[in-house]
Amino acid sequence: MCGIVGAIADRDVVPVLIDGLKRLEYRGYDSAGIALVDGSDVRRVRRTGRVSEMEAAAQAEGVRASLGIGHTRWATHGGVTEANAHPHISHGVALVHNGIIENHEQQRERLQQLGYAFESQTDTEVIAHLIHHYLKGGQDLLGALQCTVKELHGAYALAVISRKEPGRMVVARMGCPLLIGLGEGENFVASDVSAIVQYTRRVIFLEEGDTAEISREGVRVFGADDAPVQREEHLSDVSLASLELGPYRHFMQKEIHEQPRAIADTLEAIIDASAFEPALFGKDTDEVLAGVEGVQILACGTSFYAGSVARYWIEAISGLPCSVEIASEYRYRKAVANPKQLIVTISQSGETLDTMEALKYARSLGHDKTLSICNVPESAIPRASRLVFYTRAGAEIGVASTKAFTTQLVGLFALAATLAKLHGRLDADKEGEYIEALRHLPGSIQHALNLEPQIALWAERFAPRDHALFLGRGVHYPIALEGALKLKEISYIHAEAYPAGELKHGPLALVDAAMPVVVIAPNDSLLEKVKSNMQEVRARGGELFVFTDADSNFNESEGVHVIRTPRHVGVLSPIVHTIPVQLLAYHTALSRGTDVDKPRNLAKAVTVE
Ligand code: F6R
Repeated sequence: MCGIVGAIADRDVVPVLIDGLKRLEYRGYDSAGIALVDGSDVRRVRRTGRVSEMEAAAQAEGVRASLGIGHTRWATHGGVTEANAHPHISHGVALVHNGIIENHEQQRERLQQLGYAFESQTDTEVIAHLIHHYLKGGQDLLGALQCTVKELHGAYALAVISRKEPGRMVVARMGCPLLIGLGEGENFVASDVSAIVQYTRRVIFLEEGDTAEISREGVRVFGADDAPVQREEHLSDVSLASLELGPYRHFMQKEIHEQPRAIADTLEAIIDASAFEPALFGKDTDEVLAGVEGVQILACGTSFYAGSVARYWIEAISGLPCSVEIASEYRYRKAVANPKQLIVTISQSGETLDTMEALKYARSLGHDKTLSICNVPESAIPRASRLVFYTRAGAEIGVASTKAFTTQLVGLFALAATLAKLHGRLDADKEGEYIEALRHLPGSIQHALNLEPQIALWAERFAPRDHALFLGRGVHYPIALEGALKLKEISYIHAEAYPAGELKHGPLALVDAAMPVVVIAPNDSLLEKVKSNMQEVRARGGELFVFTDADSNFNESEGVHVIRTPRHVGVLSPIVHTIPVQLLAYHTALSRGTDVDKPRNLAKAVTVE
């Protein structure tokens, strides 16, 4: 969703801001803007639509400056208009804001009584006026920001500049990520490291309640009590190559093809140790995992489906009971807490608000055993968890999650095996067998990727359809769900997924010649059951598109199309069977000409409810 970038340098920062905003585009937005301190004035350029439109306007106006801030806005309070786009300005103070200010109405009334006129419908504009109000009262820019944030309820990442202070920028963070990039004689701020990684990899992650002052020469950070604090410097491992498209048409295609490497990287520590060591999940493992009696998984969207696969693995392999719940449901229900349960949150971005709030809610119920599976180091959800497993998928830019999902599955499989080991349910032979299967996984994924030309031919038949049904059973049912989600979100074809056994309890009524039915049918103990369900579809004239594996002895026949993954991979089969459904969605969207990487109405990191 919204994105922030800011820079102070000896050079012109306009290209830095525009490049940074372009790198934040993947998060989803509907307007963009920059503000610059130029001499003793603040200049601003804002546009609805793409960053490139705002860039063209900035070029036409010939703006240049060595201090500036930029923003991509995803509308929440107030429509998609130029007046609502950030930066917002109050008497020479310009600011950009990610997050939501809950008490903005009370603040607006108060500021109106103080004589401030409002130009936008946003919650953000109150912050600009409040800062100006405190500046007028004699505070300097940092002091005014520190007074202001104490009056805000809600979540914010803020970057602020003032025409009166051309030598510094001030920033604040609460509930939304914000980091400072340290350069040589120049410094940066960003909500996401990808915005600045081309200038520096040295970053400081601000903590909740921090404020900071950034000049060309240095950075000073202050804690929630306004006292100076030291925050550790990190070296980001986000690579520039992961942010570039390279030879691919879309980031989604690139990220689908990166999966053998992403999975190999994620597996590195497990393969190196040739064992499932509790230390994979962090330092406190012994204490947190000791006495765990069950697992509660919380997540949204694709990450929820990863959790749904994990439930089958955890119960089957470790024998521990496991529930999976959509985070936005869990956080609002009166859940019965069992502090001996391990709470597992799964999130690619580590920022999803509902998942974060579900974690906080679980903690408020007395859950202290928390583990996060996440792809973004130092993001909010892992920081709020005692144990962490970082997937090493690299930056995921396409809105539709692909490599994050399969690497989450790898992490979750490792969790299931580790819990089994701790509970005496994994003997050395079985452990060796699982490690061997994982070792071969990147190769099996590559074989599945080689099916792309055949899947692209199927996609041409899907492209003109309005609806599609996905079926699976057991551990492959969540893969059917994931396939349906991928297809609907990027091709806009209405798609639903059902456990194949449920067909005759309702959805069979939908089946006719116009409804393609995708079946995930590897050779496992449920295969014969799935075959019966497929007969039910054929008998109603439905056309079947079956993804299966080499061992399953399926033949093509009239109305039954079959694509085989080259080998059966046993317990890891859901990971391999994800690849064909990703490719089917991608090529169908391509045929329909949709905006694959930025599907309509969607954002990459969902930081609002
Ligand atoms: C779908 C997709 C979303 C995300 C969901 C959770 O392709 O990407 O459903 O999985 O918004 O996001 P994270 O994993 O960042 O918490």
